[in-house]
Amino acid sequence: MYRPMLENDVDHVAELDRQSYAFPWTAGNFHDSMRAGYRCCLYEESGSIMAYAVMMAVVDEVHLLNLTVVPALQGLGYGAAFLRRLVACSRESGFAVMWLEVRPSNLAARGLYEGFGFRQVGLRKGYYPASHGREDGLVMVLELRNAQ
Ligand SMILES: CC(C)(COP(=O)(O)OP(=O)(O)OC[C@H]1O[C@@H](n2cnc3c(N)ncnc32)[C@H](O)[C@@H]1OP(=O)(O)O)[C@@H](O)C(=O)NCCC(=O)NCCS
Repeated sequence: MYRPMLENDVDHVAELDRQSYAFPWTAGNFHDSMRAGYRCCLYEESGSIMAYAVMMAVVDEVHLLNLTVVPALQGLGYGAAFLRRLVACSRESGFAVMWLEVRPSNLAARGLYEGFGFRQVGLRKGYYPASHGREDGLVMVLELRNAQ
């Protein structure tokens, strides 16, 4: 089931983020997001967290800040199902567009977003930390009115 992320989920979610990224969010990043009123939600089955997401809403736009499927379950359709739900809920709530940044090297995420119709509209030079220096961020946008 999908449900909001709660403060007492954060330590576990931060551990999952450490397992999922070379440069993960800290527990503090998740706590700050919740306290700032960002939309933090997760998908769980039988009490186990399978995936989670964080979105920031600004006026009529949402910014997808984090979308993660736990490593053992990647490639099985959970990411697409979660994103489909985020897109549908955002559209039904009246948001016009969804923004995100993604690493050029993250081919799985790019494939997911492009499959949903996100298009690249910008490039943030040196946006992400990387093992050797910095990596750019592709800025992508989806117009929700036209989304599937
Ligand atoms: C990126 C992520 C959210 C995708 O979720 P997922 O459950 O693994 O992906 P799905 O099984 O739902 O696949 C959806 C689409 O993503 C793309 N994709 C998924 N895994 C892929 C891979 N290993 N290589 C290339 N494309 C891939 C495909 O386009 C796929 O569509 P298809 O099945 O029709 O080919 C997930 O892999 C993840 O959490 N990765 C680590 C964290 C991360 O990078 N998050 C995104 C940060 S911007």
